Amino acid sequence: MASVKVSASILSADFAHLLEDSQRAIAAGVDFLHMDVMDGHFVPNISFGAPVIAGLKGKVSVPMDSHLMITDPNKYIPDFAKAGSSYILFHEEAVKNPAETIALIRQNGCKPGMVINPDTSEETLKPFAKDLEYVLFMSVWPGFSGQSFIPDVVPKIANFSKWAKAQGLNLIIAVDGGISPKTAPLVVEAGANLLVAATAIFKAPDMAEAVRALKNTGNKN
Ligand code: DX5
Ligand code: ZN
Repeated sequence: MASVKVSASILSADFAHLLEDSQRAIAAGVDFLHMDVMDGHFVPNISFGAPVIAGLKGKVSVPMDSHLMITDPNKYIPDFAKAGSSYILFHEEAVKNPAETIALIRQNGCKPGMVINPDTSEETLKPFAKDLEYVLFMSVWPGFSGQSFIPDVVPKIANFSKWAKAQGLNLIIAVDGGISPKTAPLVVEAGANLLVAATAIFKAPDMAEAVRALKNTGNKN
């Protein structure tokens, strides 16, 4: 099987040294930087907005995937595109018309991804999958890093991955929340090919070892 990739969620980085921490994660082997944008309305926490992403633009050598946990993503897509996002990920629960949001992301020169919360069915992804580059399964309730993995996500990933394969779709199938070397094999076996992690990377005593552990756990399957 294709090798598993890792996206480092900078939510657990040291914001006083964001560029250094991001570069450390890249040197440790991560494939993407995951930018968790929270508005204190769609989720009960406020993190950062487009200017922080723009601060890293041109200074980091891996793509940035911006995870918009905000109430009105359409309004801010141009800002997140200009800030340097390669992928813009919106929540199914936050938009009325996913096709419109997908088109808006493309018009702004970025690759679209759709995210579903732990209680949203994977069936909601299927009508849009052929127009997406990335789907993201939340394995915690969005808002905070450091939460425990919700195992109910595993059969959802398995169902979607099997369906996507049968359709001949080749897209990023990512999981976000509580990912560690312990939980990674469960989601990779179910078909995930990108692991998003904050705590397991930025709080690890040895970042390179932590990234290797995530990738190896995946590759055992
Ligand atoms: C949660 C965020 C996640 C979070 C992951 O709202 O979307 O990306 O930072 O943190 P860990 O890996 O600590 O669960
Ligand atoms: Zn995230």
